[in-house]
Amino acid sequence: MSEEKEGASTKLWKTSVAGHVDGKTVVRGYPLDDLVGNVSFAEAIYLVLKGELPTERERKMMESMLVACIDHGIGPPSVVAARTVFSGGNPLNAAVAGGVLTLGDHHGGAIEQCAKVYQEQLTGEVSDVKAHARKVVNDFASKKKRFPGYGHKIYKRDPRTIRLLELAKEYGFSNRYVEFAVAIQDCLEEDSKKPLPLNVDGMIAAIISEMGMSWKNGKGIFIIARIPGIVAHVVEEWNREKPFRRLEEGTYEYDGPPVRNVPTRK
Ligand SMILES: CC(C)(COP(=O)(O)OP(=O)(O)OC[C@H]1O[C@@H](n2cnc3c(N)ncnc32)[C@H](O)[C@@H]1OP(=O)(O)O)[C@@H](O)C(=O)NCCC(=O)NCCS
Repeated sequence: MSEEKEGASTKLWKTSVAGHVDGKTVVRGYPLDDLVGNVSFAEAIYLVLKGELPTERERKMMESMLVACIDHGIGPPSVVAARTVFSGGNPLNAAVAGGVLTLGDHHGGAIEQCAKVYQEQLTGEVSDVKAHARKVVNDFASKKKRFPGYGHKIYKRDPRTIRLLELAKEYGFSNRYVEFAVAIQDCLEEDSKKPLPLNVDGMIAAIISEMGMSWKNGKGIFIIARIPGIVAHVVEEWNREKPFRRLEEGTYEYDGPPVRNVPTRK
């Protein structure tokens, strides 16, 4: 027999995110109609994710991270996928969902993985952050694993990281996690002799860790921030392009077996 406390709820579905109390809709306890007109969208995002409204410096940092991820051109897999799904004759929601489905370990998903490493590795017991960065990089190298949050197809130094780093310093979020993130970049580059920059995903991973946000929010923050860009691309595809876009002749080739006869059945 279950040992429920007297008065404890027996409801199967419970949430502390939002609900209805005495006829009012509340989000994390705040009446929704009071939030409207009083908090920015970034503050509301922070509130639903973290459970509390941000302070002024947290608000500025949150706004900056979301803006940094808003879009990155037509090239990334999420935009190619979204526009292609739409081009095949599907509605906007299917196209946006197709774009979101590409967000994984190599595109956007690195925030989650990287913040998990930072939060699990940089415990209170670590006194020498730089020495610990060296140890963690050696561990990854010995397992031949790529370090999430580092490297970029285009950039030797990610300009979004540079700007977020400046702002993290200005707003007081450049502490142990950011020091650890930059030290890991230095170790990776020392070993590989190639640019392996702390990319925007890694930088955001360090900042959300400084903010006390769980790594489990990492991929979600990227999805929230990138969806406006994906929607804009789908609407542009709708307005500008003919349906059934496909790879251009001459940009691909068949390299399977040469033409051969289908065996005859006996
Ligand atoms: C982003 C990424 C896909 C770009 O890859 P790329 O520029 O095409 O790099 P390549 O795959 O050609 O790799 C080049 C070399 O750098 C190494 N490398 C690249 N990223 C690395 C990383 N994060 N950690 C360790 N080594 C890395 C590769 O092992 C390779 O080494 P090799 O030449 O000795 O084989 C890649 O850096 C990566 O997977 N990063 C981790 C995921 C990530 O942070 N994604 C978010 C991007 S914003």
